[in-house]
Amino acid sequence: MSFNALKEKGMNIDQQLRTWHDIAHRHFNKNEVDCYTRTRQILMNGIEIEGWNFKHQAARCTEDNELKEFFAVTKRLEDAQQTTINWLTPADQSVLETTLGYEQVAVDLTAWLAQNEPDDYVRETFNFGLLEDFDHLYRYSQWAYMIHGINPNEIVQGQTDIMLGRPTQNHHNCNILRLRNSYSKETASPITKVNILTLVAGEQQTHNYYAEHGMQYGNETLRETFAEIKDVEEEHVSMYESLIDPTESVYEKLLIHEFMEVCNYYTCLRDEKDEKIKLIWEEFLAMELGHLKIAADLFKKRENRDPEEVIGTEIVIPCHFECQKEYVTKILESEIDKRIGGNKDYAKIEKLPEDWASYDIQEKANKDGSPTEMTIRLISECKKRDIILADEKLKKEAPKLLKKGLEKRSQAPDTVSVEDYEKMSKEVFEM
Ligand SMILES: [Fe+2]
Ligand SMILES: [Fe+2]
Ligand SMILES: [Fe+2]
Ligand SMILES: [Fe+2]
Repeated sequence: MSFNALKEKGMNIDQQLRTWHDIAHRHFNKNEVDCYTRTRQILMNGIEIEGWNFKHQAARCTEDNELKEFFAVTKRLEDAQQTTINWLTPADQSVLETTLGYEQVAVDLTAWLAQNEPDDYVRETFNFGLLEDFDHLYRYSQWAYMIHGINPNEIVQGQTDIMLGRPTQNHHNCNILRLRNSYSKETASPITKVNILTLVAGEQQTHNYYAEHGMQYGNETLRETFAEIKDVEEEHVSMYESLIDPTESVYEKLLIHEFMEVCNYYTCLRDEKDEKIKLIWEEFLAMELGHLKIAADLFKKRENRDPEEVIGTEIVIPCHFECQKEYVTKILESEIDKRIGGNKDYAKIEKLPEDWASYDIQEKANKDGSPTEMTIRLISECKKRDIILADEKLKKEAPKLLKKGLEKRSQAPDTVSVEDYEKMSKEVFEM
């Protein structure tokens, strides 16, 4: 059924103020929640943070009073939506359990976006980032076991593989190299605009979560692991946001932001099985349609253009979650040896020049060792091997994949070698 967000009525903004009880009282049960209800919850928190933060940044750069007033009213509404969603997290869900949820979002969301992205260059960038978050999930899974004694499957529920990807120690790049070519606002599909902004919001909140919670553990290597991966998320935000056309006006950006919120709630409502949480998506979709209506009117008034030129007439489905193991394995096997190139492109390891700018960053940052390598050393010290949760065929490929994906140059001194993986792969992990 077609759904044109610009033609929907939505909820008027003067009906959107909610009580403290309504804002804060709900939470799910961590042992009963479906993993994809949790990924929706984690993502939508990030979407609201982006909506709120964009309005603050933009309000500081505009003299348009009508726009300022719209920002003033809706910043509070976005903020209250964020609280309701983020506080669905129960008090007994540990930071590492939530962290596994964050990386499951990154893997399965990016895989979905890549397969539904019409622009080849944007899709290649999504696939590139995918393999990095995939490796983060593997590293954090070891910690969830070592600190809390949990099987990572309690969180990912068998929907996402736990397996090494492009090694995290190789994710540290010269941040100038991370910058990509941006799409053109005139020719880009609304799908591309919504996809990118959705992923930027997700990655930014992942970064913020690690920044705000990594220090809640006393273990030194775990703290450093959070610091190391958080820095990669910082690179991801820089990479994905650079895909956005910087010449869109504030009115155009506002229109895309509200539309992006609408599309994400629409998808959540369509996919949600939990009846109580479904009610939240339904209400917030109506609220966002109310925001979009005003954003569209402002855009028309100030730019003398039809909003349909920017966001089209069809809803976009940016956050459908389902098992992506097959797709991720395909990308893992074909792209683990890909790196950021020097011309806003990508290059295989053997094609990197001697003076590749990221070598310098990796040599400096990993000089004393890479905490994500030490993670594997620690778990194999007590359990003789690492936790890998994937089918037997993929599991056996770990040493071969590492051999392909690990840079020969600039390896951290504590790197777990291909030989170490070969040895580990003969052992059975007793959970
Ligand atoms: Fe919102
Ligand atoms: Fe990540
Ligand atoms: Fe990421
Ligand atoms: Fe909004």
